[in-house]
Amino acid sequence: MFCGGAATIALGGDPIVLTMTTPGHQPVLLAEVMELLAPRPGAKVLDATFGGGGHTRAILESAAEVSVVALDRDPAALPRSAGLASAFGERFQLIDRDFGRLGELETGGLDGVLFDLGVSSFQLDTGDRGFSFRVDAPADMRMDPRSGLPASQWLETATEEMLVRAVRNWGEEKSWRRVVRALIDARGTGRLARTAALAEVIADAIPAAQRRQSKIHPATRNFQGIRIAVNDEIGAIERALPAAFERLNSGGVLVVISFHSLEDRPVKQFFRRQCGQPVGAKDSTPQDLRAQFAEPLTRKPITAGDIELSHNPRSRSAKLRGLRKL
Ligand SMILES: C[S@@+](CC[C@H](N)C(=O)[O-])C[C@H]1O[C@@H](n2cnc3c(N)ncnc32)[C@H](O)[C@@H]1O
Repeated sequence: MFCGGAATIALGGDPIVLTMTTPGHQPVLLAEVMELLAPRPGAKVLDATFGGGGHTRAILESAAEVSVVALDRDPAALPRSAGLASAFGERFQLIDRDFGRLGELETGGLDGVLFDLGVSSFQLDTGDRGFSFRVDAPADMRMDPRSGLPASQWLETATEEMLVRAVRNWGEEKSWRRVVRALIDARGTGRLARTAALAEVIADAIPAAQRRQSKIHPATRNFQGIRIAVNDEIGAIERALPAAFERLNSGGVLVVISFHSLEDRPVKQFFRRQCGQPVGAKDSTPQDLRAQFAEPLTRKPITAGDIELSHNPRSRSAKLRGLRKL
């Protein structure tokens, strides 16, 4: 994720000036990502989340003849790629694709893969995409508005179990029973159609004491949960990681930036499994029965330093993990 401002980051050695593809947008943990990927001349890298192309540009500029295949499921990413297409010609290609379908892609022989998960500032800040209740707009929330149901229709038709998963699991809402009940009761009234009314339905369902204690708007986490459900975000990550790993050359690097624990959990588990480490506290597989396919490059996830935090508040929740395929 990224947002406005310009910055220089010093990581160990020389300062790195963050390169921006679209004015006002800047990639998160750029220096750290580049240090892990460290593309050699001629390397082939997949950027699974093109967004505004900030990471892609830095990768293309990092060494001679590096090529990048980028993916984004949001058709609005395509016009943002025009500058890179004209600057780098055949070294750069953007494919209009959900990374959850990476398994269908012919692209292989990769030296590096990057996932910078979640939504972009472009999506959050474009009010009519319906990601935020700060602007009243149709409650859409789809990263790819050409497929699936907008949130408004999804909320009208989802089973109770699907709503519980969105509100309790993905939204981590304490009062999930009340919120799910309120969403079901609001069906057919038009109150699920627009972001402002939807936020009100949610906020009204949450007890006043909980609302007072919370530092964030009561609808924030629920909007996140509904967005994750509408876009099948966790399912896409779970499908994409093995497909990306399979496409890596031996010695290739997989790098993932996540922004909340729900995204980070499948990443952490996948990394641990590939590195031959216990996946969780209950994993009692004897060590000699564990296969190791990769080595970890980050013992603990890397987080943003003070300089980046001071100019890019959205970097505060970013966690970067990397591994190298053996
Ligand atoms: C945080 S932004 C990436 C920013 C980018 N690294 C940059 O420097 O500009 C995430 C992007 O990934 C895209 N995205 C999220 N999930 C996706 C998926 N399953 N398949 C393809 N693109 C996805 C979003 O549409 C968004 O444009």
